[in-house]
Amino acid sequence: MIYILVRCLALTHHSRTINMKMKFQVFVFLLFPFVTASDVSVSSRRPYAKYESIFNFGDSLSDTGNYLAVGAPGFPQIAHLPYGETFFGNATGRASDGHLIVDFIAEAFGLPSLPPYLKQTGGPYKKTGMNFAVFGATALDAEFYYAKNQGPFLFTNDSLSVQVGWFKKWKSSICTSKQERHKYFKKSLFLVGEIGGNDYHIPLLYIGAPIEQVRPLVPLIIEAIINATTAIIEEGAANVVVPGNLPIGCLPAYLTRFQSSNRSDYNPITGCLDAFNEFSKYHNRLLIQALKTLRKKYPRARIMYADYYGASIGFYYSPKLYGFSGGSITACCGGGGPYNFNISSLCGQPGSTVCDDPSTFVNWDGNHWTEAAYRHMAKGLIYGPFTSPPL
Ligand SMILES: *[C@@H]1O[C@H](CO)[C@@H](O)[C@H](O)[C@H]1NC(C)=O
Ligand SMILES: *[C@@H]1O[C@H](CO)[C@@H](O)[C@H](O)[C@H]1NC(C)=O
Ligand SMILES: *[C@@H]1O[C@H](CO)[C@@H](O)[C@H](O)[C@H]1NC(C)=O
Ligand SMILES: *[C@@H]1O[C@H](CO)[C@@H](O)[C@H](O)[C@H]1NC(C)=O
Repeated sequence: MIYILVRCLALTHHSRTINMKMKFQVFVFLLFPFVTASDVSVSSRRPYAKYESIFNFGDSLSDTGNYLAVGAPGFPQIAHLPYGETFFGNATGRASDGHLIVDFIAEAFGLPSLPPYLKQTGGPYKKTGMNFAVFGATALDAEFYYAKNQGPFLFTNDSLSVQVGWFKKWKSSICTSKQERHKYFKKSLFLVGEIGGNDYHIPLLYIGAPIEQVRPLVPLIIEAIINATTAIIEEGAANVVVPGNLPIGCLPAYLTRFQSSNRSDYNPITGCLDAFNEFSKYHNRLLIQALKTLRKKYPRARIMYADYYGASIGFYYSPKLYGFSGGSITACCGGGGPYNFNISSLCGQPGSTVCDDPSTFVNWDGNHWTEAAYRHMAKGLIYGPFTSPPL
């Protein structure tokens, strides 16, 4: 521990940010030595981790082009502007106007944006990571939904376990020996999610089932996330981030679908639907609990919980504080209505319009966040208190 402390301090001159991060790190060390004691074996990645690559699994919150690579069959708008208008100037398959959280995380660790696994570039693998996330992906497998006659609601069959399957297949193509691979994965960051949002959209948003009927599904979704995380750790992952769910009661899609004349359904400050936000929190509580158990099973792995809810809820309480003068619960891009969300005229479809300045909006298209919102969330996750233990 002393060794690490000295090492950390020796690095503090590098930059102000690192310096501040290190102070916090050292503080955590002194205060909670027991928390970090088991990490000594992987101390080489301190200070604040020097990940050499990032691997990502998830849905449209982190898909950087996989769904587009297979033609985006259920959401062709993603292939065109205004998607990507802010940063890329063209559509990349990201469900936003620009960068996603995973892009900002890669940037913070000095790595390029993750290449989408399904987009064959033909070039050699650059060793900086790979993205397996797919727009619309569910935590549970497609069979689960087909068995309930809910298959038609799926955007894709490429569920979390399918993505983990791709990873297992792919990994044998990169390094020669298992030992070599384990060494490589030890210096990698793995992100498992956000995932599960689509599993809830199907019964809640598309079918309109009451929340109480959907609650029993939550432990199953958590189990699927834990199964995937376990599989990834078994493959050699030593640094795994598992994000929770976001406040879905603040999404224009939910606010439009569940418009209510009963004022007590709404949070008086944010205007969000309280019951749906409570549902997100319930999912997150079960996930945090399950991760605690998983840490006991794998004490050598650094298993981090990323509080996406906490990193974003401030936008809705104090939008102006973050520069969101345009709106927090109104979409930047959409087909009108009180929340600028219209299921018959989605962002990118005829009849929809785009706001002048997406950076003043929290929400992009009714179901996804703007680049500006993702940037704030990423900051809170990387430098702030919203990843625990810290990244
Ligand atoms: C998705 O999975 C279902 C059930 O397993 C199958 O019937 C269907 O053909 C699959 N669709 C695609 C596009 O692979
Ligand atoms: C999780 O893994 C266990 C053990 O392989 C399996 O029995 C269970 O069905 C899986 N659960 C989900 C939701 O995938
Ligand atoms: C309004 O909603 C609240 C909670 O959401 C509920 O307790 C109350 O019974 C509802 N009132 C009416 C008139 O439906
Ligand atoms: C939603 O879009 C449809 C199709 O463009 C249009 O006819 C309808 O008026 C729109 N609804 C609202 C509330 O703007």
